[in-house]
Amino acid sequence: MSFDRLAPHYDWLEAVLAGSRLHRARRTWRAALAGRKEILFAGVGHGPSLPEFARGLPGARLTCVDASAAMLARAERLVHTAGFDPAQFRFLHAALPQWTPPAARFDAVVTDFFLDCFAPEQLTAAVARLAGAARPETVWLVTDFAIPPAGAARWRAQFVHALMYACFRCATGLPARRLTEPDALLRAAGFTLRGRQTSNWGLLRADCWVRAAAQDSLRPACSAGSAASRSSNAVSVASSFAFSREEKWAAMPSR
Ligand SMILES: C[S@@+](CC[C@H](N)C(=O)[O-])C[C@H]1O[C@@H](n2cnc3c(N)ncnc32)[C@H](O)[C@@H]1O
Repeated sequence: MSFDRLAPHYDWLEAVLAGSRLHRARRTWRAALAGRKEILFAGVGHGPSLPEFARGLPGARLTCVDASAAMLARAERLVHTAGFDPAQFRFLHAALPQWTPPAARFDAVVTDFFLDCFAPEQLTAAVARLAGAARPETVWLVTDFAIPPAGAARWRAQFVHALMYACFRCATGLPARRLTEPDALLRAAGFTLRGRQTSNWGLLRADCWVRAAAQDSLRPACSAGSAASRSSNAVSVASSFAFSREEKWAAMPSR
């Protein structure tokens, strides 16, 4: 399995096939990373959200891991071109679940369109590895494709998933044949779903998961709160917290 062949084409393919939808989903819970110091971007790929995230995280160290050297090189070039201090980033060419990150190192984990790359057994092992690297107060942002529970949206998503997995399998040798939901694995690792926002008729899902010690401090930033009343596709566990302007923006429906 390698995304190397896709790396030079990833940006324009995403722009043509999805416009800005994936990027809007990636940034949904960005505010929940405020104040985090050690952030792990697993399956960082070409690093589309790195400049924007890094800009809001002065003093944080961003560890970026990917199995594709070509994707990783693009991510590194992106932050270099954007003029960031290279000392803020660490780029690691490694594959999960074989890579063992340092135990309890990170207070935030970001996985964008990464967990959906795994077949069930590998996903279990990969989530366990990442959870082992997370501290007791870690926030984990998960953005992925999803399949809605029923109706035309479900049929549409099933069709898109079938097409997508077939194409990725062909182009990269991706082992997964379909989506495996990570929710049960995250719960088993001690994470609680604090906010979920779906978009594009349920095809895209952005989640904010937190470990127990992070829950109180993160409620405002990681809850759809009042946005839930404006949008049927925003789900919040906590419902009555005050939002800053940034947090409101982060919780806006992205369809
Ligand atoms: C669909 S791309 C998503 C890239 C990026 N996170 C984004 O939001 O566009 C998945 C990325 O995960 C990487 N990847 C897939 N399986 C992996 C594994 N087992 N270990 C590490 N990286 C992996 C691929 O090389 C690729 O760059």
